Amino acid sequence: MDGSLTPKSIESLVEPDRVHRLCYTDEDIFQREMEKIHETVWIYVGHKSQVKEPGDYYTVQVGRQLLFMVRGADDKIRVFYNRCPHRGAMLCSSRSGNAGRRFRCSYHAWMFDFDGSVASIPALNGYEGTRFNKDDPDAQLKPAARVDDYRGFYFVSLKEDGPDLDSFLGGAKLSLDQLVDRAPEGDVEVVGDCFRMIQKSNWKIFLENQLDVSHPSATHESTGVATWKIERAMEKRTGQKAPLSYSFLSAFKMPIEDWRMFETVGHPQGHCMLQGYMGLRPQDPDTLEYEGLIKKAYGEERGEEILSTDLHHVLVYPCLSVQPPLQQLRAIRPLGPDRTLTEIWHFRLKGAPEPIYRRALDYYYLVNSPSTMVNADDLHNFWKCHEGLRRDGGDWVSLHRNAGQDRIEDGVQYSAPDTMSEMPLRSMMQAWKHYMTQGD
Ligand code: FES
Ligand SMILES: [Fe+2]
Repeated sequence: MDGSLTPKSIESLVEPDRVHRLCYTDEDIFQREMEKIHETVWIYVGHKSQVKEPGDYYTVQVGRQLLFMVRGADDKIRVFYNRCPHRGAMLCSSRSGNAGRRFRCSYHAWMFDFDGSVASIPALNGYEGTRFNKDDPDAQLKPAARVDDYRGFYFVSLKEDGPDLDSFLGGAKLSLDQLVDRAPEGDVEVVGDCFRMIQKSNWKIFLENQLDVSHPSATHESTGVATWKIERAMEKRTGQKAPLSYSFLSAFKMPIEDWRMFETVGHPQGHCMLQGYMGLRPQDPDTLEYEGLIKKAYGEERGEEILSTDLHHVLVYPCLSVQPPLQQLRAIRPLGPDRTLTEIWHFRLKGAPEPIYRRALDYYYLVNSPSTMVNADDLHNFWKCHEGLRRDGGDWVSLHRNAGQDRIEDGVQYSAPDTMSEMPLRSMMQAWKHYMTQGD
């Protein structure tokens, strides 16, 4: 675009069943997305277990801003801009760590408490007779405008106004509820650090792919067929069923048409869900032991409710892709119109037997890690889409599949039954249009 973006010009790029390619490739649009979406709505920062001890900090990028979260001596987790108020140096240059008793800026040794207040400045008398005031807000670390958590998952909004976290998450809260409630002790913790991957494509291409049910059996067919052959050969040789983890990959052999059995849901904030796909309730001793622990912890009825919720994938727009039954989530950090960082996090369910953790770890390595064939195929598609979209050859991206046939109730959209509706993609772009045209 020529820098003259208006709500009207933005609206013209998003039709009910197709989207203009500039939404994915244009630099001005990207800058506006950062301002109107990523630096406005609630964005995931990290989990409480990333900063376990006082002084633990973890850095993160939200929109174009560099922030960090830190646990204080009072156990409270706060989020600040990663910028020293003296001359602007980043305060935390490591990705994460423990600051000891205070933060010390490496440039001129200003010290800061974990509540953000400046604790000491060397040779402070040099400021006598100047306009500088140590108590002035400009001399303290700048906090994120709003910080809140939902069950230990911390989010920030860089704007003072707007819905609170609870209302923003709305129906998508179920994804985090499921992640936590599946732990017999009702709590989870991250395992190690995350995998980080930079995709050479727009951030929306990644989100759209997560609930694009017509792609897995096409894109991942070779992986599915190869694994299926090995699985069968193994079963023939041993006379026993192959380990469950093989099915994580051989599932991609499923005919494309069979993906019609899964329902997708689109919420007005842009959050989307894919239900079904992975019951993960085989009757092996490990699973039975785990189910027993859940029912003991929550009671028969509530325990069964937790275990039978088959929610494969939830997008918390615009920043998270959560897979509750597999204890993982991916955070999306746009770096530019054509560069997107994803962080792939894996969680341990407190109180669950080790094999349940191992099962999820297998999925983490086999399907979501940077080294899997599954992910490699996806990344290749994302790059190809971006390369195609940033050149001539057609202006529109088709989202027509089952357009106009989805059910809408109280603003929530449900994919037409027995279809591979592209509703989640349409729903996200309608939310995108809403955010992008607000406040002008
Ligand atoms: S820039 Fe941090 S103390 Fe000078
Ligand atoms: Fe995929």
